[in-house]
Amino acid sequence: MHNRLKTKFLGFKVESPLVLPAGIMDMSFSGLDISVKNGAGIVTSKSLTLESRSGHKGPVIAEFESGLLNAMGLCNPGIVDGLAEINEFKERSDIPVIVSVFATNADDFVELSNHVNVSKAELIELNLSCPNVYDEFGIPLASSKDEVFKIVKAVKEVSNLPVIAKLSPNVLSITEIALAAEKAGADALCLINTVGPGMIIDTKMVKSVLFNKFGGLSGPCIKPIALKLIYQAYSAVDIPIIGMGGVTIGEDAIEMIMAGATLVGVGTAVYYRGIEVFDKINREIIEFMDENEYDSLEDVPRLEKL
Ligand code: FUM
Repeated sequence: MHNRLKTKFLGFKVESPLVLPAGIMDMSFSGLDISVKNGAGIVTSKSLTLESRSGHKGPVIAEFESGLLNAMGLCNPGIVDGLAEINEFKERSDIPVIVSVFATNADDFVELSNHVNVSKAELIELNLSCPNVYDEFGIPLASSKDEVFKIVKAVKEVSNLPVIAKLSPNVLSITEIALAAEKAGADALCLINTVGPGMIIDTKMVKSVLFNKFGGLSGPCIKPIALKLIYQAYSAVDIPIIGMGGVTIGEDAIEMIMAGATLVGVGTAVYYRGIEVFDKINREIIEFMDENEYDSLEDVPRLEKL
């Protein structure tokens, strides 16, 4: 990895600003390891729930000309088996791991956090923003600043690890939500989760392509929304941000950094450019830095705050 890509996040040294977001790769040892071998600086597990979930029936992914819809339905092996995979990964790797967890109330988030405390992971992410389980659980918690405050505060009281709140783009004021998370003690924010959800119709079959009908929208078409929301959150809070949403090439990652992100998630681009996308984007970031004479990521200018 190139020295000029090294940075720090919540005290952890990372070799690249690129993050594998939750739910992109299988969370087995090899799923995480292959992302790191291909240039990711930090990896995130699938969002783990207290019990295992099989998720929605397929098709769970639908491609269209400007992006992807997904409705995985939070399929995961459950917190105990999920953490066993992460512990196995950590036995052979120094790369920081973020464990993503999903629940629908503060007590369950606290219980999940207690499990993560005794794992080998370095950071915990609270997934407050999955848009694909509306029928089961209703509107994502990240839609309410009061819920965000309550859950982050409850987890901060028990967590031994830095707490990252993963926020939704589907809100009226990201500033209010970001401030609520910060006030409750969040150490960092991660945004954005997928947009919508949306729908694609199979016109021959006259039905939605996704079995779940609706799914979260990702890919290049959401980047302008992500940039705007990251910039608004960055303008409001003093905690670091993992920015994501439509990052496909190096210059997209630079835009995220200019908007205020410290680290940058690369998710749907794995689908377009293969797992080598992390190395490719790392190289493209270096090329951009060369062209613009930036020695380090810290030299890349950030937009003036709002
Ligand atoms: O459907 C899913 O599992 C998606 C989760 C998320 O976007 O947080």
